[in-house]
Amino acid sequence: MKTLAIAAQSLDGYISPAAETSTMTWVSAEDKAFFRQFTRECGVVVMGRKTYDTIRKPLPDRLNIVMTCDPLKCESIPGVIEFTSSTPFEILKNLETRKFEKVAVIGGSGVYTSFAKENLIDELYLTIEPILFGRGIPMFQDLPTPPTLKLLEQRKLGTSSVLLHYKIATNPPQSPFDKGEAATPSLVKGRAGEGFVVSLPPNL
Ligand SMILES: NC(=O)c1ccc[n+]([C@@H]2O[C@H](COP(=O)([O-])OP(=O)(O)OC[C@H]3O[C@@H](n4cnc5c(N)ncnc54)[C@H](OP(=O)(O)O)[C@@H]3O)[C@@H](O)[C@H]2O)c1
Repeated sequence: MKTLAIAAQSLDGYISPAAETSTMTWVSAEDKAFFRQFTRECGVVVMGRKTYDTIRKPLPDRLNIVMTCDPLKCESIPGVIEFTSSTPFEILKNLETRKFEKVAVIGGSGVYTSFAKENLIDELYLTIEPILFGRGIPMFQDLPTPPTLKLLEQRKLGTSSVLLHYKIATNPPQSPFDKGEAATPSLVKGRAGEGFVVSLPPNL
């Protein structure tokens, strides 16, 4: 299974001008279309709770995995939206058993960084938008060992945006199962059955 991080970024290197900013109006229509098609093809997206708070509903036709330290606060709908306190490694392990071949990690910074710190991102799709924020949230923060990247493709999106596709060259494993000694395999927290069903209402 491949883990693909996808993000839009300002020309000066930020995925958002501020933590509390939910609007993505600065992202081009072409990138939104690319994001929609790409994540639908993957079939599953992983995001942080703060990013979920900005969209406030599951992305349709994709399994939405939302990372949070407090999944019991939220209402999971298996196969649609699943809140979990599992680690990135545990999430990927679970998705692999559910036969997903590609997973899209859609942010924000906390989640991109969590996956990168466990060396679990295989490829990166980054759209550079023609805007300067001057301040904001970078895609990754405080990576202890920055990975080496190999450019696989660059493509113009619309008139002014550029899509960059990188392979993380120093990410050795192809599958989270290959990575046993680096991560700490453990029981998937908050998991029932196949999904991360953690807070179902009693009548379901
Ligand atoms: N430009 C883009 O492509 C793009 C994409 C996505 C998001 N964004 C922007 O990014 C901003 C949000 O990013 P962010 O870094 O502040 O937040 P985030 O990564 O979306 O969410 C962080 C939250 O996710 C949970 N989390 C993260 N890692 C975890 C882990 N290893 N284990 C358990 N829970 C974990 C925690 O939730 P709890 O606090 O509930 O425990 C944490 O507070 C927003 O402004 C959004 O608009 C931009």
